[in-house]
Amino acid sequence: MRKILVIHGPNLNLLGAREPEIYGKMTLKEINANLNKYAKNKKISLKIVQTNWEGGIIDLIQKARGKFDGIIINPAAYTHYSIAIYDTILAVGIPTVEVHLSNIYKREEFRRKSVIAPACLGQICGLGWKSYILGIDTLLEFLDK
Ligand code: DQA
Repeated sequence: MRKILVIHGPNLNLLGAREPEIYGKMTLKEINANLNKYAKNKKISLKIVQTNWEGGIIDLIQKARGKFDGIIINPAAYTHYSIAIYDTILAVGIPTVEVHLSNIYKREEFRRKSVIAPACLGQICGLGWKSYILGIDTLLEFLDK
C-alpha cells in the first residue's frame, strides 16, 4: 500500500474562517475528511499533518525518509521564501508535489514565485481543495511508472 504524507503549512488550520473568498468555505477538517475518503477508495494510506512552524515542516520531511513514498505539501506562505524547505525536499529525495488552494499567479506579486516548486515533481494551484486530489493522483501515477 502506497504511503503518502500530506503537509499543510501555516494558517491553513484557519480555513473556513480565513479569507473564504480566496480559500473557500471548507474547514481543514472537512478537506482532510475528503482526502481520507479519496485515499480509502484508492487504497492508499494518508498521514495528514498541519503545522504553523517552518522547522516543524522540515522535521516532518526529514522523518518521512523510509516511511513515505511521496509527499503532498502546501507550504502556504513559506512557498515564497523558504530555501530551508526547498533544501530539505532535495536532501531527502522523496517525490513531492506542491499544491495551493488559490491561484498564486493571479494574486499579489510576492505570491507569484515559489522557491520550493523547483525541488518538486510539479505544482498544482488554483483548484481549491481539489488541488490536493490532483496532487495525489499525480504522485501515484509517478510512483507507478
Ligand atoms: C496558499 C497560498 C499562499 O500564498 C498563502 O500564503 C497561503 C495559502 C494557498 O493554498 O493558496 O497561506 O498556499
